[in-house]
Amino acid sequence: MQFVPSASIPEAAQRFAELQNREWGHLYPDASVERSRFDLLNNRYDESDLTTLRLAWFACNEEGEPLGVAMLVGDGEVEPRDERDLEGPWFAGLVVDPAFRRQGVGAALLDFVTEQARLFGFQRLRLVTEHKTKFYEQRGWTIERVVTLNSVLNTVMFITLGP
Ligand SMILES: CC(C)(COP(=O)(O)OP(=O)(O)OC[C@H]1O[C@@H](n2cnc3c(N)ncnc32)[C@H](O)[C@@H]1OP(=O)(O)O)[C@@H](O)C(=O)NCCC(=O)NCCS
Repeated sequence: MQFVPSASIPEAAQRFAELQNREWGHLYPDASVERSRFDLLNNRYDESDLTTLRLAWFACNEEGEPLGVAMLVGDGEVEPRDERDLEGPWFAGLVVDPAFRRQGVGAALLDFVTEQARLFGFQRLRLVTEHKTKFYEQRGWTIERVVTLNSVLNTVMFITLGP
């Protein structure tokens, strides 16, 4: 498996933006396919400002075909009242093409993006998930808190990256 910045395969952005929105559109009233697509086409991070962090990578097979996507984002994952004491960065946007699930792509993307966060020097990474706490617990993540997103219960989890 290889990992490439999502902006390097622009023709895949629409399909994965649609997959992402199908999963989380109901949790974020401001979400749209267009916004997700923009983020996949415009990977960005000004290291002096965490709120600018919006990076995404595709996991690709040997032929360079994208199988899944995951992101590292600075904010916007939880509602403003929770954001005050739940700082980023966040692991986000993990979706694997339904045709390629249960082959280790999701876990590989999680490992890869976690390592990118560590290389940036972050001490801790968070995520919020509606249904997949077990998937992340099995991979070393800890439950931190229950929050609501658009009135739907979700779980914030974290992993420690630093010493
Ligand atoms: C969650 C999601 C990203 C997982 O992607 P995936 O590529 O299927 O993930 P993996 O293959 O690494 O792991 C999934 C399961 O398959 C198992 N698996 C991995 N390789 C396998 C193989 N070769 N044969 C059988 N099972 C396998 C894993 O052990 C894991 O089991 P678990 O759920 O009991 O931990 C994917 O189901 C998805 O896109 N779901 C919709 C979006 C979503 O829920 N995203 C996460 C939101 S926080």
